[in-house]
Amino acid sequence: MLRAGVVGLGLLGQKYLRLMANDPRIRIVGVCDIDKQKVKQVCQQYQVQGFTELSGFLDLDMDFVYIATPDFAHTEPAVRAAERGFNLLIEKPLATSTAEAEQIVQAVRKSGVKAKVSFCNRWNPPFVAAKKAVEEGEIGEVISIYARLNDTIFVPTKMLKWASQTSPGWFLMSHTFDLARWFIGSEAVEVFGIGQKKVLKQEYQIDTYDNLYAVVRFENGAIAVLESGWILPESFPFIIDFKFQIIGTKGCIHINTHDQMVHLAGTKYQHLGTIDIDVNRKPRGQLAFSFEEFIDALLENREPEATVEDGLANTRVLEAVHIAADSGGAVIKVKGNNA
Ligand SMILES: NC(=O)c1ccc[n+]([C@@H]2O[C@H](COP(=O)([O-])OP(=O)(O)OC[C@H]3O[C@@H](n4cnc5c(N)ncnc54)[C@H](O)[C@@H]3O)[C@@H](O)[C@H]2O)c1
Repeated sequence: MLRAGVVGLGLLGQKYLRLMANDPRIRIVGVCDIDKQKVKQVCQQYQVQGFTELSGFLDLDMDFVYIATPDFAHTEPAVRAAERGFNLLIEKPLATSTAEAEQIVQAVRKSGVKAKVSFCNRWNPPFVAAKKAVEEGEIGEVISIYARLNDTIFVPTKMLKWASQTSPGWFLMSHTFDLARWFIGSEAVEVFGIGQKKVLKQEYQIDTYDNLYAVVRFENGAIAVLESGWILPESFPFIIDFKFQIIGTKGCIHINTHDQMVHLAGTKYQHLGTIDIDVNRKPRGQLAFSFEEFIDALLENREPEATVEDGLANTRVLEAVHIAADSGGAVIKVKGNNA
């Protein structure tokens, strides 16, 4: 039985609490959030110990800690939990600066704990199918990727309280860059980035990018073109618009997850979500599959897939995208990777 703790009890923290509660291999022992009300609610729901500060929480006896604080607040809980010897599942992006991502990697490797970054799309069935096809040589060598992962404006204006402290780069493009690097199998060396701040900044006083665009060149010559924004209208039939196209030397693969396979026309037109859905009253889908891989790795005493080094490589590139976009559109060498 693995004893689990959760830091950050928002949307993702509570989704994972359900995953844990449905897994007979896991016992939730404690939770932590700066929001007293959330701690109280979760403690009542799951009968666990609750904390509003890391100190008491990290004194608990735990086998792993899941960190689901906002994008910019992963580092302190990750480093302190690693130093206490707890295995870690950390939400993406690993951190919002290369310096902080390096601190997490150092703390994890020094303490010898196991750690996974929750790049859950690697466990999203359409991408699993595409990866298998690529590995079986169906499209030859992957030389080009185009990815568009956009959200409706609901996400930065109503869902996240901390949109001004992140961006569609950290929140969304961290997924598509991870997938691109995973399919291409090489490190990014150079990035062109450009973005727009208009709607959120002027109409909502949320000082972050509406859209970010990146062209990434990899060491092996492959190129990824990535687009992430979050100002699509709320009338859009699904909260996420996600298209991913892979071009190889002998073929191509097109993935379109935004349509979700089910179209419903009731009081409004919508695509019903099938990404994460309950089947047999248990949560299934990419989050569950990714989480199961982490638990399997702990029980098998092996390194989980999607490591903190993958998280660091991801943060390096996204930092370069932001530096390039902040300077009005520039080409930036990715630090730490070979040119
Ligand atoms: N893998 C995915 O597909 C996916 C999807 C959505 C969000 N995420 C990631 O999950 C993380 C959490 O996102 P969310 O949507 O659940 O956010 P959220 O705002 O719903 O929840 C964040 C929680 O963290 C708490 N918090 C803030 N600072 C804290 C601190 N210093 N210590 C403890 N608790 C603190 C807040 O009170 C809140 O309850 C983000 O990094 C986000 O990018 C991942």
